[in-house]
Amino acid sequence: MTAAASIPHPNPLPARGEREPSDSEAGEGQRNVPVIAIDGPAASGKGTIAFNVATALRFHYLDSGALYRLIALRAMEQGIGVEDAQTLAVLARDADVTFEAGRAMLHGRDVADALRTEAVSTVASRIAVHGAVRGALLARQRAFREMPGLVAEGRDMGSVVFPDAKLKVFLTASAEARAERRYKQLIAKGISVNIDGLLRDIRERDIRDTTRAAAPLVAASDAKTLDTTELSIAEVTTAVLALYRERDTAA
Ligand code: CDP
Repeated sequence: MTAAASIPHPNPLPARGEREPSDSEAGEGQRNVPVIAIDGPAASGKGTIAFNVATALRFHYLDSGALYRLIALRAMEQGIGVEDAQTLAVLARDADVTFEAGRAMLHGRDVADALRTEAVSTVASRIAVHGAVRGALLARQRAFREMPGLVAEGRDMGSVVFPDAKLKVFLTASAEARAERRYKQLIAKGISVNIDGLLRDIRERDIRDTTRAAAPLVAASDAKTLDTTELSIAEVTTAVLALYRERDTAA
């Protein structure tokens, strides 16, 4: 998955203290803004595909995983335990996180590179099991829904955060193919990793993400599933754009 880091986020998150819409307001005022929800397991290609689709359509882009990672990093820095749901939820609500010129910022610091470490990946997936943390991030995610449209990627974009998305895509690929993609991505960034360790981490995260009680990773019933194991990034991007155009002309 492409790092949130290297991607220009057109719209920053509301900073701490700024007003954010409530859940119901977000639904009311933004209903006409089309959303494409792209969900899937770790390293299924959602980040790259979502960014390409957003660029092609000139839509806004939300990497929801970056939010979970930012909260994970902050919790690690503050020594907050992964089981402390209430403190983590307060952190998720109040942390000063912004995306500036494509760089993820935490309390004014550029932390884009730190977010992609496997340690942060693991803690992100462990804190994401808490309903209180997920609830605290809901309004922040929905605030990205702005004209002319939004491409949102994560685990529960179609099932929970944007259930009225115009198009829902669920990307899959074998764990081995995903570990190899993540390996190449991290090596290209100069981060040294071991492919067996990556495969193990991906499998562990898959289990945690799919078996948690709160918003488990699951394809929404109206999602279109694409197995990308044998497909290139360009092929998947083209397929998603074609699906969206079909929906758009049918509407
Ligand atoms: O890039 P990768 O798919 O490995 O991870 P990510 O999308 O950055 O998400 C990191 C972790 O945050 C995941 O393993 C999930 O546990 C969690 N997450 C989530 O629960 N819900 C989301 N919408 C996005 C991420």
